[in-house]
Amino acid sequence: MHIAIIGTGYVGLVTGACFAEFGVFVTCVDKDKSKIEKLKEGIIPFYEPGLEDIVKRNYKGGRLNFTTNIQEAVEESLVIFIAVGTPPRGDGSADLKYVEEVATEIAKNMTNYKVIVTKSTVPVGTGFKIKEIITKNLKKPVEFDIVSNPEFLREGSAVEDFMRPNRVVIGAERPQAIAIMKDLYRPLYLIETPFVITDVLTAELIKYATNSFLATKISFINEISHLCEAVGADVKTVAKAMGLDGRIGPKFLHAGLGFGGSCLPKDTMALVKIAEEKGVNLGIVKAAIEANRRQKERLTHKILEAFNGSVEGKTIGILGLAFKPNTDDIREAPSVYIVNTLLEKKAIIKAFDPAAIENFKSMYSEIQYCNDAYEVAKDADALVIVTEWNQFRNLDLERIKKIMRSNLFFDYRNIYEPKRLKDLGFIYHSVGRC
Ligand code: UDX
Repeated sequence: MHIAIIGTGYVGLVTGACFAEFGVFVTCVDKDKSKIEKLKEGIIPFYEPGLEDIVKRNYKGGRLNFTTNIQEAVEESLVIFIAVGTPPRGDGSADLKYVEEVATEIAKNMTNYKVIVTKSTVPVGTGFKIKEIITKNLKKPVEFDIVSNPEFLREGSAVEDFMRPNRVVIGAERPQAIAIMKDLYRPLYLIETPFVITDVLTAELIKYATNSFLATKISFINEISHLCEAVGADVKTVAKAMGLDGRIGPKFLHAGLGFGGSCLPKDTMALVKIAEEKGVNLGIVKAAIEANRRQKERLTHKILEAFNGSVEGKTIGILGLAFKPNTDDIREAPSVYIVNTLLEKKAIIKAFDPAAIENFKSMYSEIQYCNDAYEVAKDADALVIVTEWNQFRNLDLERIKKIMRSNLFFDYRNIYEPKRLKDLGFIYHSVGRC
């Protein structure tokens, strides 16, 4: 089978490369010429473990191709995935201009039956909007189906998530489209992946509901972490015991600096907006967004408090800038809020991240970027763990203690044992533990 993926951003490239790995012939299309040229050379525009290898191997094997020519890609493909961005507008709703542009382009180049699939996270109802756009722009009457097939890829584990997903969701109107989609995902049938076959609107909503629920779980435990600090309880043990209840589960109950990234913040806001447009009040999702904002604010305030309100001229070391480990993505990262606040209060910032420094540099040039955690710690008045990269989990703490100017340690991902750090002589702050 031949398929086309329009948009070689994060979702599009992972999807294209992984389908090629399944043995499907994939053409990835993007209007950005230099990006396409680089991809042909095996240069991936972002950091994602395992992806480069798959891209290079399948490009060499002739199953994965890159082009700027949408016409050719549409002509030779039975299934066309739309995987372009849906950036948030000022009011939190998703901007569909790229999706609409692509739908128009596809329509203009359609000469026979196609299945048009949305992979991008799009507001409920977008599938039907795409159907309208395509019908309006067809040059001659051609049959086609629209499908919603949302992605659930986590940055940093996207290849694994694609190859071994918890489920595949397919929303379609007609059996023919469902059969083609099932055929495309056949390798996952073999490993008994659950398939949820439903209508287009339900599939579109599943993605938003999933991400909003995950965000709610994180915000819930973050609120409980605040209460733990107030009463002297331990949030890690609370979360562990809660998670052992099979109805709750242990995942997404790690208290920390709140959720960031390109999906959870954007999708929660978009869902609230979608609901408002229909006159529905999603109070819980709104509260999750608000709790997330408060968590970042509260933990940043704790740093200021430790300096009696004034960090002017103090050197603060930041360990981790990416919104989570194994990615170079800094979108909505808690690091941005913390660094911004501390810089406003005239602190001197030193920072290290194994992957995200280049991205951070484009926003903040006034920071001292370091080569490792020890360079950050040298002469620092405080150290803040913002992202739980593995290499921060086993630091030589005695060495850190010796090279720091002061002894303030903010472990905002709860990596270390409070007693051990206190015994080493640090003034240790974590999240929801005393
Ligand atoms: C998410 C969804 O998991 C994925 O299915 C979807 O397709 C895209 O959005 P991603 O944004 O890559 O993936 O990151 P994820 O691993 O879900 O983490 C999201 C945020 O929540 C991160 O900022 C992370 O640090 C935070 N988080 C996660 C917590 O604070 N505590 C937790 O227990 C789990």
